[in-house]
Amino acid sequence: MLVLGIVGSPRKEGRTNALVGAALQGAANAGADVQKLYLIEHDIKPFSSQGGAAEGVRFLPTTLCDVCEQADALVLGAPVYFGDINGLSKDFMDSVRIGNENGKPALGIAVAGGSGKGLLSGVQSIYHWFYHRQMRAIDPTPVTRFNEQAMLAALPESGARLVEMAKTPQPFPGTGREDRWAEIVAYYANVPYLDKGPVDEFLMLAEQLIAISEGHAALDEAKAAYAQALDLAQQGDRANAGRHAVRAYDLLLN
Ligand SMILES: Cc1cc2nc3c(=O)[nH]c(=O)nc-3n(C[C@H](O)[C@H](O)[C@H](O)COP(=O)(O)O)c2cc1C
Repeated sequence: MLVLGIVGSPRKEGRTNALVGAALQGAANAGADVQKLYLIEHDIKPFSSQGGAAEGVRFLPTTLCDVCEQADALVLGAPVYFGDINGLSKDFMDSVRIGNENGKPALGIAVAGGSGKGLLSGVQSIYHWFYHRQMRAIDPTPVTRFNEQAMLAALPESGARLVEMAKTPQPFPGTGREDRWAEIVAYYANVPYLDKGPVDEFLMLAEQLIAISEGHAALDEAKAAYAQALDLAQQGDRANAGRHAVRAYDLLLN
């Protein structure tokens, strides 16, 4: 059993690498063989063919496709640049072709290591790809520098879950690719975060900052703003919920 970790950051010793490593450690502890690869070490070109999606594989070394196919489960980590995953990760996603992808267990990690903005839009991009490629994705993992330690601690369990899932592969049923969407869309309806937007993102960021801001002079004020944001969100006033969430975040950022 092989669990493959794919590092989409060009910084080989950065946060993405450490987080992918934590998931692989959990997989190894659960008995799997693990392998890590760095996209930056491979010749990945932006897709620019006239030939349509089927020709994407021409822009990616076949060795990358082969190792993804050999893997029983995938971990994909990508850094967040300007609110979304970086181009290297997206070029990989555009170009790789994995013959046995249906139902393959997959885990995605998006790392918004600066302001934290884009933690949800980034992880959503990865999971939109898992969805389109018909994998069985679990545990979307949005990471910031505020929750990084907690995520490093949680990821080994996700890695172990991938191994459990891979022991009994569950391809989505259907006679062909286009026949499977009813089951796939039903599965992804229960994957966390895919229905979230910018207001939720700031609510999460405010919550994360509150959790690590013991002793901060503005903590009480930030907590009050956050509580008000939650209240407003519950009442359906998303616009003002967003305003209060941003205020809570701003109070604690520095
Ligand atoms: C071009 C660029 C844009 C970035 N944009 C964001 C951003 O929108 N939100 C954020 O939280 N961090 C942003 N960052 C910071 C990265 O997410 C952060 O450095 C992260 O740790 C990168 O992952 P790595 O450590 O694995 O390289 C950006 C970094 C770069 C280089």
